[in-house]
Amino acid sequence: MIDKIKSLLEEVGHLNAANNEEIEALRIKYMGKKGIVNALMADFRNVAPEHKREIGILLNSLKESVQDKIKELKERFDSTDDVDAGIDLTRTAAPIKLGTRHPLSIVRNEIIDIFSRMGFCVAEGPEVEDDWHVFGSMNFADDHPARDMQDTFFIESHPDILLRTHTSSVESRVMEHTQPPIRIISPGRVYRNEAISYRAHCFFHQVEGLYVDRNVSFTDLKQVLLQFAKEMFGEGTKIRLRPSYFPFTEPSAEMDISCNICGGKGCAFCKGTGWVEILGCGMTDPNVLDNCGIDSKIYTGYAFGMGIERIANLKYQVNDLRLFSENDVRFLKEFEAAN
Ligand code: DAH
Repeated sequence: MIDKIKSLLEEVGHLNAANNEEIEALRIKYMGKKGIVNALMADFRNVAPEHKREIGILLNSLKESVQDKIKELKERFDSTDDVDAGIDLTRTAAPIKLGTRHPLSIVRNEIIDIFSRMGFCVAEGPEVEDDWHVFGSMNFADDHPARDMQDTFFIESHPDILLRTHTSSVESRVMEHTQPPIRIISPGRVYRNEAISYRAHCFFHQVEGLYVDRNVSFTDLKQVLLQFAKEMFGEGTKIRLRPSYFPFTEPSAEMDISCNICGGKGCAFCKGTGWVEILGCGMTDPNVLDNCGIDSKIYTGYAFGMGIERIANLKYQVNDLRLFSENDVRFLKEFEAAN
């Protein structure tokens, strides 16, 4: 029996297997219920007492070396990618590549977040609009140049239908079916008949804001816009309002923020002025309120409109507008961290 165990010990040292099934076959052959080790254990009962110690030690070491060998073979298989090893359901799945949000979506969501916290709801309107909602109700004179085909895309067969040139059209859409208080922002795509270059595109994105209630004043407008500028560009951001003209607001203004690149000292980006323009705003013209069924003797309102590309450009210094619509993954990947 001693010789038998010794030769088995040697045999086990040389055992090999080509796949998991072969390992399992070896395990059964040596360690199974009817396997070699168990058979030896049964014989052990008949061993003469004076040999029990020596044979017992040998038997135990045989058992251990079979177990070690099987473990070693298993480990070798787990660490190889051999297809023969079968499917290992415990392996981690291949990582799935996730896309990133488009920079314009990141900026739009941030704008929505800021104004939502100040009580504004999101309102949407159609991109294919009629003249009344884009121009007529918004107090554009009949001969206003924006109504020219040079600036606006009209539908040839329906001269009254056009692609909206600004999201101000959503103001009239909301006002015609809602009585004040109204406090909305309206993000969306707008279209203009422009030659495409690094600084102009035939479509871009805007966010419109409108607040109509009793006693809404220019001070309210200024405070909300200051808060927005600080949250968007940093606590130290300053704003200034310059008088301007828009048909739908009176008085009207354009708002600049202190240049967020040089901090207001003056640089190439702000052309040395320390200020950069970010939006148009003003008190809603009473004609607009009346056009949309809101009594301008009772209510006043303010409105503002900004370009999302412009804000994104200020935040991320994207100087070529075309990059936003080319979907070049090398450009989009740069915004991974902002997602
Ligand atoms: N609609 C204007 C544009 O497209 C932006 C704008 C200016 C919107 C002043 C407003 C506003 O609501 O009050 O350029």
